[in-house]
Amino acid sequence: MNETMRAMGATRDGAQLTEIPKPSPGRGEVRVRVVASSVNAAEDKLISGAFVGRFLHVQTSPLVLGWDFAGTIDALGDGVTDLAEGAAVWGHLAYSNSQRQGAFAEFITIERDELAAKPDDVPFHVAAAAATCSMTSLQSMRDLGRLGEGGTVLIVGAAGGVGEIAVGIARRLGAHVTAVCSTRDVPRVQALGADVVIDRKTADPFASQGAYDVVFDTPAVHSFARCAGLLRSGGAYVTTLPNAALITGMARALFSSKRCYFVQVASKRADLELVGGWLSDGLQVTIDSRHTIADLGAALARQGDPARAGRVVVDVAQGWPA
Ligand SMILES: NC(=O)c1ccc[n+]([C@@H]2O[C@H](COP(=O)([O-])OP(=O)(O)OC[C@H]3O[C@@H](n4cnc5c(N)ncnc54)[C@H](OP(=O)(O)O)[C@@H]3O)[C@@H](O)[C@H]2O)c1
Repeated sequence: MNETMRAMGATRDGAQLTEIPKPSPGRGEVRVRVVASSVNAAEDKLISGAFVGRFLHVQTSPLVLGWDFAGTIDALGDGVTDLAEGAAVWGHLAYSNSQRQGAFAEFITIERDELAAKPDDVPFHVAAAAATCSMTSLQSMRDLGRLGEGGTVLIVGAAGGVGEIAVGIARRLGAHVTAVCSTRDVPRVQALGADVVIDRKTADPFASQGAYDVVFDTPAVHSFARCAGLLRSGGAYVTTLPNAALITGMARALFSSKRCYFVQVASKRADLELVGGWLSDGLQVTIDSRHTIADLGAALARQGDPARAGRVVVDVAQGWPA
């Protein structure tokens, strides 16, 4: 008989315990026993049926979501010789239109190169809170934006999940960081070490012209057209959502000395190892709240609460409902 595992299916009303098949690792994959996960903006896109959700996960029934994971290796697929059962690992399950798994479940399987060893001094819940956001930030600014030592970056949404860790990562890349956030978050973003903090409720981030190598629009609320005047020649605008403004921006960039990109996060072992070292060394991830798996419904609701400040963690290994 096929083995089953416990998982929480997300619904518009919260979350419900369900039993689904326990996955087996294929060749080159490992099975991870999930200890912690966290909530991103993506869950709501699936639960609400938003169009963009189709690119992140299949509308499975039950809808088992959760892309961040930290846990321990439970089984090795054929051909995996560089990892060991019991090792603590972390990473991000791919955003994909063929993704059927979620980390709000006891086990996931994943390609061996899409996870990394979790540093011993980084707790599971912190790694789970950091995975998707840190990969998105690093790949947006370093890979697409070519941000490095001595560069300048404007980070919009600097108190959000992606934006907060982007501030810390940009500093570690050696860049000068200008961060945009709302009034209540100014002290927190200043404490992250941003060189300049712009309170978007009282000041205009577009007041300066031609200053930045990268504009990282984490909430995707601006556009290449709007931000081009802020960029140096050769500079890059990077956004997180594929919307109409992106298509227009990419077309305009063809006739410009400036670049326009959409980031598509990927879980890469080398990037996770780099960020894991930074987390050990104090890279900040603010935890708003922690919820046991039985309280997944409350965790999903908290993600959409305007009072939230930081990441919403789900302690998947704790509190399964009877
Ligand atoms: N493409 C990818 O691979 C990828 C990967 C990860 C995330 N994402 C996407 O990235 C987006 C951000 O994710 P997140 O986890 O950082 O969300 P989040 O935690 O909700 O943070 C969003 C931040 O944006 C700020 N914001 C909202 N409206 C704004 C506006 N008009 N002007 C300036 N700032 C504004 C918010 O702060 P205030 O409103 O309080 O100022 C908030 O701090 C989501 O849509 C997510 O789906 C995409």
